[in-house]
Amino acid sequence: MRIGVLTAGGDCPGLNAVIRSVVHRAVAGHDDEVIGFEDGFKGLLDGRFRPLDLDAVSGILARGGTILGSARLERARLREAAENCEELARSYGIDVLIPIGGEGTLTAAQMLSDAGMPVVGVPKTIDNDISSTDRTFGFDTAVGVATEAIDRLKTTAESHQRVMVVEVMGRHAGWIALESGMAGGAHGICLPERSFDVADLVKMVEERFARGKKFAVICVAEGAHPAEGSMDYKKGEIDQYGHERFAGIGNRLAVELEHRLGKEARPVILGHVQRGGTPTAYDRVLATRFGWHAVEAAHRGDFGMMTALRGTQVALVPLAEAVTELKRVPEDRMDEAESVF
Ligand code: F6P
Repeated sequence: MRIGVLTAGGDCPGLNAVIRSVVHRAVAGHDDEVIGFEDGFKGLLDGRFRPLDLDAVSGILARGGTILGSARLERARLREAAENCEELARSYGIDVLIPIGGEGTLTAAQMLSDAGMPVVGVPKTIDNDISSTDRTFGFDTAVGVATEAIDRLKTTAESHQRVMVVEVMGRHAGWIALESGMAGGAHGICLPERSFDVADLVKMVEERFARGKKFAVICVAEGAHPAEGSMDYKKGEIDQYGHERFAGIGNRLAVELEHRLGKEARPVILGHVQRGGTPTAYDRVLATRFGWHAVEAAHRGDFGMMTALRGTQVALVPLAEAVTELKRVPEDRMDEAESVF
């Protein structure tokens, strides 16, 4: 069998572990050939690819990013790929494509699959917002980075009697804010799933100071938004990939809190630090398992499917099921974290 693999969308710690695992299982386990397309679907359309053998993936398990490069692609070019997918598969001689990516990539994978290309998807995203899988690799690493940041910010906040507003990634789903906020013991957590009232945050900080506590840390997801009438805040515009640009809730909230509290507040935007660097052991293991199962699925002819973690088992689920809606933080998970506003 000849397998094509690509990584698309925003990168994420653990992508190289999947590539390595696919190559190991395919080459050593099945005597397959593997080629890797560069820069996601762009490489597939532009004919940029390279053979991946055991040497090519040696030493990459712990490396962040992706050795293949990643890119987002405009919808029009994705349609072009779907329209020509049988011809593309024939020209590269591939029997299956394994695209590794988030919601956008898996939607593209579904389009290609519907158009007749044999596809087995592998979900990735630090946001952990893909339906049908309990976890995506990259999330554990991002939560670890954000938690460490909250731990560190507490000591400097206390020295200066400040309010720290830590903005973490999470466009439509607040999983990183929820779990890093819980793990770091943030005093306030704001998520995209529930609009927050600034007055509640002000009250919480004032009560803390009245109890003799001299600082507060608020963890806010980049996609969180204030309740109507609670604070002036303009939503961002939509970019060429259909994603909302963020209007800087961390900065805006810090300014508002400083103004209302009469205390110093500082924004800390963690940004792409959460996506860079070496994956945690958990993410390496999950990524490796997903790669192994993707190759096995390809050999069974289970196309149009995606690997997924269900409990502790890796299962295969239809791509169509995975891309219908995002997995957002449910109410009961918010209730467990008492600091969600
Ligand atoms: O989807 C993953 C993600 O990291 C989001 O949390 C974030 O909003 C976005 O990607 C940032 O993307 P870019 O790399 O285009 O800045």
